[in-house]
Amino acid sequence: MSESNAPYSGALEGSNAKRGLWSSRLAFILAATGSAVGLGNIWKFPYVTGENGGGAFVLVYLLCIAAIGLPIMMAEVLIGRRGGHSPVNSLKAIVRHDKLNPAWWIVGAIGVVAGFLILSFYSVIGGWAVSYVGTAASGQLTGQSADAIGTIFSDLLGDPATLLMWHTLFMGLVMLVVAKGVRSGLERAVSILMPALFLLLLIVVGYAMTTGEFGRAMTFLFQPDFSKLTTSGILVALGHAFFTLSLGMAVMMAYGSYLPKNVSIAKTSIAVCVIDTGVALLAGLAIFPIVFANGLEPGAGPGLIFQTLPLAFGQMPMGSLFGTLFFVLLIFAAWTSGISLLEPIVEWLEEQKGMNRTISTLGAGFVCWALGIASILSLNLWSDFAPLGWIGMLEGKTIFDLLDFFTANILLPLGGLLVAILAGWVMSRKAMEEELSLSEPMFRLWYVTVRYITPVAVGAVFVYNLFGS
Ligand code: PFF
Repeated sequence: MSESNAPYSGALEGSNAKRGLWSSRLAFILAATGSAVGLGNIWKFPYVTGENGGGAFVLVYLLCIAAIGLPIMMAEVLIGRRGGHSPVNSLKAIVRHDKLNPAWWIVGAIGVVAGFLILSFYSVIGGWAVSYVGTAASGQLTGQSADAIGTIFSDLLGDPATLLMWHTLFMGLVMLVVAKGVRSGLERAVSILMPALFLLLLIVVGYAMTTGEFGRAMTFLFQPDFSKLTTSGILVALGHAFFTLSLGMAVMMAYGSYLPKNVSIAKTSIAVCVIDTGVALLAGLAIFPIVFANGLEPGAGPGLIFQTLPLAFGQMPMGSLFGTLFFVLLIFAAWTSGISLLEPIVEWLEEQKGMNRTISTLGAGFVCWALGIASILSLNLWSDFAPLGWIGMLEGKTIFDLLDFFTANILLPLGGLLVAILAGWVMSRKAMEEELSLSEPMFRLWYVTVRYITPVAVGAVFVYNLFGS
């Protein structure tokens, strides 16, 4: 970020002229990609795809990215840039300027709540990745059978103390960066480490091609079989589109507030969506051939990548090296996403409660960490405890499952729905046109999407799922 850029002229009055702006379009893309690409792409996408039957689910997910995620991302960035503050204050500034209902700050509040809840379990999964660095580096994976690899994973899940240790380490890493408020070094790191992660995924895909089941994986991922698609699968695809793009919780709004006026919101948002989706699809192509070649279960659930990738690393040449590097890069990707989950909470505490950054980070980080313990216990001692099991669709869901379900499938789409209504119905069309500066047909396409398509689609999926059964 550079302090030398002049603040943009179109910002609402009262926006903080002292805030630095991203030095370039690239800097914004790197920061937004750092937030978007994370465990959602490499851990969650393959396992929800496996659980929901493959092709048809992938198609709905891709549709959700293009027709809902991208337009909402543009709306979030736009609102952030127009407001020129942190999300809660940007919304307040817009509300004041456009004389809107003050209740719109709720969009920022959803971000704060979702940040707490997501980071609590996100950090536990980040901890799994930390644990696998040691497992890969020590050569334990070399030549192991699928059963032995499965046992390594179930031993980890069955050990709350070890999980807590890695969760604590991961959360500590996130808090460290947020407390110091350092971002600039991080963006530079993203520009090197993200391509490295991409390259390693390509190497695993290369290995996966030699397993003889690549064709089957392609069919599984890209040949839609609609008989396998359920209404709840559609909800999961929609929720995952929000989760993977970091939408619905005002993160992109926060980043947008630093975007210089002359940068195209549409082009940058498209770049972030394409990179994010590319990483997820590559992860799918790396994992499913290994699943089929080893007779594993595609619907194995959250452990899927930890039961498949280690097999590949155990068999390929220089597997210990590649495996170690891969999990280090996965931690890095998760780390940059984790930072973007904690940052809005800390900003909110600073601005609204007048707390200093270190105290805010320690306080918020501690609450997330403590909540994470419930997710850790859901994997072992509390694995049969389904607190809301009496509600049909939540049957059998542990606390960890509930946190994931409630945030990705309810809170984030709800946040996105509100953003769409704000941009499509409440803020002035002229302001939108000014910010986006698209050609007339493209602008109209975007406007119709946020005004009608997104609210109707999100609303319909909600109604079907929550009230339909
Ligand atoms: N997009 C991140 C991932 O795919 O791992 C997760 C995430 C980060 C969700 C930040 C929401 C968010 F605000």
